[in-house]
Amino acid sequence: MKAFVLRGFGSADRLELGEMTTPSPAGDEVVVRVRATSVNPYDWHYMRGEPRIARLMSGGLGLRQPNVSVLGADVAGEVEAVGDGVRGYKPGDKVFGLLTGGGFAEWASAPIDRIAPMPANLSFEQAAAVPLAGVTALIAIRDGSVQSGQRVLVNGASGGVGTFAVQLARAVGAEVTGVCGKRNLDLVRSLGAHEAIDYTTADFSRMAGRFDVVLDISGGRPVSALRRLLDRKGTFVAVGGPGGRWVQPADRMMAVMAMKSFVPQRMVVADLVRHGAKAVLLRELAGLIEAGKVTPVIDRTYPFGEIPTAVAYQEKGHATGKVVITI
Ligand SMILES: NC(=O)c1ccc[n+]([C@@H]2O[C@H](COP(=O)([O-])OP(=O)(O)OC[C@H]3O[C@@H](n4cnc5c(N)ncnc54)[C@H](OP(=O)(O)O)[C@@H]3O)[C@@H](O)[C@H]2O)c1
Repeated sequence: MKAFVLRGFGSADRLELGEMTTPSPAGDEVVVRVRATSVNPYDWHYMRGEPRIARLMSGGLGLRQPNVSVLGADVAGEVEAVGDGVRGYKPGDKVFGLLTGGGFAEWASAPIDRIAPMPANLSFEQAAAVPLAGVTALIAIRDGSVQSGQRVLVNGASGGVGTFAVQLARAVGAEVTGVCGKRNLDLVRSLGAHEAIDYTTADFSRMAGRFDVVLDISGGRPVSALRRLLDRKGTFVAVGGPGGRWVQPADRMMAVMAMKSFVPQRMVVADLVRHGAKAVLLRELAGLIEAGKVTPVIDRTYPFGEIPTAVAYQEKGHATGKVVITI
């Protein structure tokens, strides 16, 4: 099969089109004929080997060579083969999944605890936009214990995770303020935000103490400054921030952990990697999508051969929603 193989840490030109053996399923896996995948910051963190601190962690990026040779965490496609221990899936079923990698290829093996039946109302391209960003947003909403009637600030409302977070907070019944760039204000309002604020001109000091929950997806301002937007009983959820060479965005998670015991608010880190039950969360998202409460937002779609270009575009940090690849 054809796959884009990561030949070593570096820029998107380290992703090379090559031939690989088509996978066969282990006992608890299915093999998916990948019809679409999408790009996440997760992919270029692996590609660059940054932040470098993550190379030292067990289960991290890999010390000198990437731990994952074929990137692409999101897949949507059809089951081609099932392992001996698999119940509930058969060849031909349409599925979507959140893998540790393998999506930048024609076929991918997928453990069944990382896939779910594809939402019936989505195309493969739309379904591939959902898993990593949608599940992260769902975890953030849960970790923030977002409730109906609460005032929620979504910082980074127009990106992959943010577009899901706005819709999920609205689905719970929260009153949402979305922070994004000027060109995305209308989009964020159209997703259900009561208010959309341009981060380049917003006066954040005027909003002090106004929110019950801050979902910090894109960073851009110190954690301490965003925390001041919370009510005394509020919850701060750290999701991400701009990538850097050595530590960023992990510095924001460290700041949250360090502040935890010294501030009145609840300080939480949303962590997709360590979160179990991905198939359960995918099924929940599928239900919300089929009910019309959540719709993936796609910035642009690239063909399979342009995966390096798609990753380089996503890496710039200004995609509106998701960058999708058709296979
Ligand atoms: N904790 C976890 O387990 C987990 C899981 C997944 C992702 N993440 C992290 O979450 C972050 C977001 O991921 P993503 O997929 O949503 O990324 P993304 O799609 O690349 O986010 C891009 C968006 O960020 C917005 N943005 C850029 N600078 C901003 C600023 N200063 N203030 C507000 N918005 C700003 C951009 O808006 P404009 O174009 O309008 O500038 C753009 O819409 C990343 O850091 C990622 O690594 C964490």
